[in-house]
Amino acid sequence: MTTVAVILAAGLGTRMRSRLPKVLHPVLGDPSLLWVLRALPQGLGGAVVVVHHGKELVLEALAAWQRAGLLPCPVTTVDQGDPLGTGHALQVCVPELDRLGASQVVILCGDVPLTSSATVARLCAAEARLLAMDLPNPGSYGRVLQHPDGRLAGMVEAKDATPEQLAIKVVNGGAYALPWPALRKALRGLTNDNAQKEYYLTDAVAAVAQALPVTVEICDPEELAGMNSRQDQANLQAAAQRRIQRHWMAEGVTFLHPDCTLVGPRVELQRDVLLEPGVRLEGRVCVGEGTRIGQGSVITDATLGEGVDVRPYCVIQQALVGAGAKVGPFARLREGTELAEGVHIGNFVETKKARLHRGAKANHLSYLGDAEIGEGSNIGAGVITCNYDGVNKHRTLIGRNVFVGSDTQLVAPVVIGDGAMIGAGTTITGDVPADALALSRTPQVNREGTASRIRSRQKKRSG
Ligand code: UD1
Ligand code: CA
Repeated sequence: MTTVAVILAAGLGTRMRSRLPKVLHPVLGDPSLLWVLRALPQGLGGAVVVVHHGKELVLEALAAWQRAGLLPCPVTTVDQGDPLGTGHALQVCVPELDRLGASQVVILCGDVPLTSSATVARLCAAEARLLAMDLPNPGSYGRVLQHPDGRLAGMVEAKDATPEQLAIKVVNGGAYALPWPALRKALRGLTNDNAQKEYYLTDAVAAVAQALPVTVEICDPEELAGMNSRQDQANLQAAAQRRIQRHWMAEGVTFLHPDCTLVGPRVELQRDVLLEPGVRLEGRVCVGEGTRIGQGSVITDATLGEGVDVRPYCVIQQALVGAGAKVGPFARLREGTELAEGVHIGNFVETKKARLHRGAKANHLSYLGDAEIGEGSNIGAGVITCNYDGVNKHRTLIGRNVFVGSDTQLVAPVVIGDGAMIGAGTTITGDVPADALALSRTPQVNREGTASRIRSRQKKRSG
């Protein structure tokens, strides 16, 4: 049996009022469509994403996710053209599903991000099933008609429903598993003879239910909630946040202020991690045991070891932070930063493609770019690697136990040997041998009494 997922993502999403296609709007940092794809089980015969509005952006995003290894199966796309309804979306997929040799089809919506992987796995294992919700206020959802034993008898869209049908509280969640031959046949018979003049997938599902038993699974409404507006997006984000925090709290993580802490779906936290208020962790972030992340810090695609102390208001992106390192407050670690164990990065220090070996320190006001700094070296306040000559980037290599005095500029490319000392205020333009002292300063001049003379002149002028 070959199960293929179809993900509907061609709609415009008018109510989002956005240039961005609806399925690319994020929930805790990950776009809705990525949530849906990542919930698919391993071992599917593929996933077909039906696109149209904002197609280029969706294709670009899919390619990036593919490169990043985030997709559980091969993903192809079909352009629906002008979307004429959910049934039409499936009709345009017929050649692609045939090409993939589908025997079973699982249909999901790209704008329904929070269906859990457990629910999707159950759906993928079902022969013929519909996911539904039991809502006190069923609103504009399609109504599910059931046989006395619960099996699907039919479906009717709210706009086409009779008052009696509108009173039904079991509604269609828009997710289905069906044998492909039966659905394929039903798609041929679709018409758009309804209130919205659309080709309804629900009509095809209802037709399949005439031929074979289709079960109805009632799900937690949170799992089937769609994103049609910014309000929905905020509600989904809050629901996802609750779900993710509940999970990590059970694993031994402290959230000092859960309501204002955002932890994305691809974050992994070890026990005794402590997150202060206003922390945001997005993308693939791994945080080791006992690490504390200070207030207002934003961490994206980074790995932090055990016992790291990130003080308040740090921004960390595509970086590796070793065990026991201290970072911040107000530090910025950019792409390609690698801090070994016990490194100290203090306030107003920016690093980029910088590798600091064990115990190295840069405690105040520095820019360290395209640099390697050896074990135990100390970078004084205000030290800058001048890594960019306007055209090319150059590297600064600093050995072990080097002392770089305050306000030094290191004009790269430059190599500083082990144990060297650089006097404060030096502009380094050439290599420094091991154990040498490097200095470049104009001699200091003291003119006795000149300050008071200047002051008295200043007074006279203002008088
Ligand atoms: C559909 C169901 C309704 C169900 C609801 C659940 C039909 C006819 N109705 O409603 O019973 O309660 O979902 O959310 O299926 N899309 C396309 N191409 C199209 C039309 C839609 O790709 O031509 C995509 C949309 O981008 C969206 C999804 O399909 O991701 C659902 O479409 P939407 O218009 O939101 O659903 P409804 O038709 O309102
Ligand atoms: Ca619609």
